[in-house]
Amino acid sequence: MITWRVADDYNALSREAAGVLVRQLEANPRSVLLLPTGTTPEGMYQEIVAACRNIPRCLRDATTFNLDEYVGIPPEHPGSYATYMRTRLFSQVDLDPGRTHVPDGNGAAIRRERPDVDFETALALECARYESLIRAAGGIDLTFLGLGRNGHIGFNEPGSPFDSRTRVVELHLSTREANAPFFPEGRVPDRAITTGIGTILESRSIVLLASGAAKADAIARLASAPPSPDFPASALLHHLDVLAIVDRAAWTKVGEAV
Ligand code: GLP
Repeated sequence: MITWRVADDYNALSREAAGVLVRQLEANPRSVLLLPTGTTPEGMYQEIVAACRNIPRCLRDATTFNLDEYVGIPPEHPGSYATYMRTRLFSQVDLDPGRTHVPDGNGAAIRRERPDVDFETALALECARYESLIRAAGGIDLTFLGLGRNGHIGFNEPGSPFDSRTRVVELHLSTREANAPFFPEGRVPDRAITTGIGTILESRSIVLLASGAAKADAIARLASAPPSPDFPASALLHHLDVLAIVDRAAWTKVGEAV
């Protein structure tokens, strides 16, 4: 079930999303969060960084996981999601670095421990390790999601099973094109590690964010169509506690035939 909230504009959306997180942390400072990347949550992260300046131990006791990471680039790469999170959030707030997790798209830690395994095996082991870290943390309390134009969540492209777990996936050309601005110097990787739709649906609460006219078709479809693996975000209709915060530009086509 999705509860819809239409914010006036991107700034209002970002403030509302950050407010949800601040209230979650007030209720449970030890919350376990699953976090997105992309352009949409950038404003939310700015708001959280600003809010945390006035809150003692703001994120100090929280644990974070990221939804996804590209395969084949190191965490220091400027286009990696590890870099995105380090620059926009981790280095700006009081999170304990030992409790922030981004999938390792190079399987480097696994390959150090297990020099005998090949790259593909290391990636598969990394996916299994990530799932067990989430379980060991007690599961996810609150997930924030962006939305791909084709309805992807995390990097779960159309066709992803609703019970999928953390795994290596191929990225669609449209997804790679949409993410090209993060790779001004070269090629967008063609694979990623993503938490699965099943992993995401186990989160106790979920907040979906969508901003701008480029997301209007996807939002109209999500608001009207029944769940189908062709459109990964529609899996959220099977969850009991989803808040979708969208701005007016993303909401414009709701009610039109899609
Ligand atoms: C990437 C991320 C997704 C994100 C999507 C939308 O593909 N892996 O998690 O939701 O981009 O990005 P944007 O917010 O830039 O439109």
